[in-house]
Amino acid sequence: METFIIANWKSHMLLSQAQEWVESMNATLTSTSKKVIICPPFTLLPFLSVQKNMLLGAQDISPFGMGAYTGAVNGAQIKEFALYVLIGHSERREYFKEDDTILSQKVTLALEQGLTPIYCVQGKDTIIPSGIDIVAYEPIWAIGSGKAESCEQANEVALSIKAKNSIKTVLYGGSVSSKNVASFTAMEAIDGVLVGSASLNAVEFSAIIQNA
Ligand code: PGA
Repeated sequence: METFIIANWKSHMLLSQAQEWVESMNATLTSTSKKVIICPPFTLLPFLSVQKNMLLGAQDISPFGMGAYTGAVNGAQIKEFALYVLIGHSERREYFKEDDTILSQKVTLALEQGLTPIYCVQGKDTIIPSGIDIVAYEPIWAIGSGKAESCEQANEVALSIKAKNSIKTVLYGGSVSSKNVASFTAMEAIDGVLVGSASLNAVEFSAIIQNA
């Protein structure tokens, strides 16, 4: 089974910073056999899409198609640059008030465009729309807190998500670092990690890829 390592840059990074990041990450991205997917802000997708060895995801997708929806970036537009899209992150649920109805609309549109959604869930009972193959389990309290969940507990939740939804790939996210990443990827039911703040630093993110 492949090990997924997803970088979620959130609302961080300017073009100049992304250029430096790419330069420092080049050797690692060229040599790794792991599946590394970078999810930058929309503004950086065109720049990153022309770099070598770069698998990309968007951090969001419009719940509508092409049309008069000011500010929205739709699936066809994402597909020009990326293959994946994060949907259902707890920050989208909290700050942008996205609910299960909107999230399932986003999943439908992503799938229609041939994008692969990486669906974020906050617990074993979070509703998962149909058509999802990759789930990222991220307990809210572990995000950005420096306190990751125990790998045993995360494994339990991953097992339960797999059993309930017949999902093959479950990732763990929440304060993943180069120090703790191996404990998660060693778990039977955990197929990789979703990394927020630690993915912004190229040295740390390289170490995460190597240690995973
Ligand atoms: P964190 O964020 O690694 O900074 O905790 C993870 C996420 O929100 O995807």
